Amino acid sequence: MARPKIALIGAGQIGGTLAHLTAMKELGDVVLFDIAEGIPEGKALDIAESGPSEGFDAKLKGTQSYEDIAGADVCIVTAGVPRKPGMSRDDLLGINLKVMKSVGEGIAAHAPDAFVICITNPLDAMVWALREFSGLPHNKVCGMAGVLDSARFRHFLAEEFGVSMKDVTAFVLGGHGDTMVPSVRYSTVAGIPLPDLVKMGWTSQDKLDAIVQRTRDGGAEIVGLLKTGSAFYAPATSAIEMAEAYLKDQKRVLPCAAYCDGELGVTGMYVGVPTVIGAGGIEKIVNITLNDEEQAGFDNSVNAVKGLIEACKGIDNSLA
Ligand code: APR
Repeated sequence: MARPKIALIGAGQIGGTLAHLTAMKELGDVVLFDIAEGIPEGKALDIAESGPSEGFDAKLKGTQSYEDIAGADVCIVTAGVPRKPGMSRDDLLGINLKVMKSVGEGIAAHAPDAFVICITNPLDAMVWALREFSGLPHNKVCGMAGVLDSARFRHFLAEEFGVSMKDVTAFVLGGHGDTMVPSVRYSTVAGIPLPDLVKMGWTSQDKLDAIVQRTRDGGAEIVGLLKTGSAFYAPATSAIEMAEAYLKDQKRVLPCAAYCDGELGVTGMYVGVPTVIGAGGIEKIVNITLNDEEQAGFDNSVNAVKGLIEACKGIDNSLA
């Protein structure tokens, strides 16, 4: 059987890391697409030359032609610009919306059966626009944010409790921005919910509140340190986890930006929710019940994403 084909649209910091991870995990052959001449070709060759030491056979190709993504099983989109210190993800909207139009059209023409994972920010609005421009089924287009935000939350919690991150589960709801909602009640250490751990005296409410806020600011913390771009190792790893769930039909329960059609009270837009990812793409949205405080935070986040979608419609009439 032929190896799966994974098209990476955007061969920058995240795109290059995605290519390396895809090859090392032997998920399939890689096509790196970018408008910048030489970058995808150079990265593809460089990574291919790591194959003999690493022991993978995956083929890698760099290109400026959408024809090369033909028949891709998975497309992961990072095309666009990242933020610089002082910028919010929302500041990228105008420029990245134009990029989503060309990428959406390219995928529609050459890889209409692919499972598409968008990473470009502002995530929830860009994945919505990418779906609109591509016309692909909603269950085959999603956005990577929740896995990353949850991974950040899990990392901080594992450090606080001094336990393995393997025993920490967490998820984050809502938009991938300042309004995201790290769910304290549904996050656990070995199945024990965080509020119970506070009652047990293993941590304090103040420390937990600080971790929640650090999770919300997780992207900005990295931007502030790097100064020349945004996070790329953990975002790439998170998207690979989603791609692997699809390619191997794992039925993973992962939070991601998915199209809601009534679930969690949201209709007709993308926002971060718990999903099941398998061979059918986004096979299910886990329709959890929120308490009043969580619902208020989630509604606030949904409204922020709605505002960005309206802004997209204002910029590009074809979306209205
Ligand atoms: N088509 C294809 N590639 C494009 C296009 C386009 N129309 N426009 C820009 N690109 C490419 C750039 O040439 C660059 O190589 O997208 C790549 C983006 O790479 P980086 O600038 O290194 O950005 P990266 O850190 O990878 O982040 C990409 O993901 O997390 C988000 O906020 C982040 O929106 C940003 C995106």
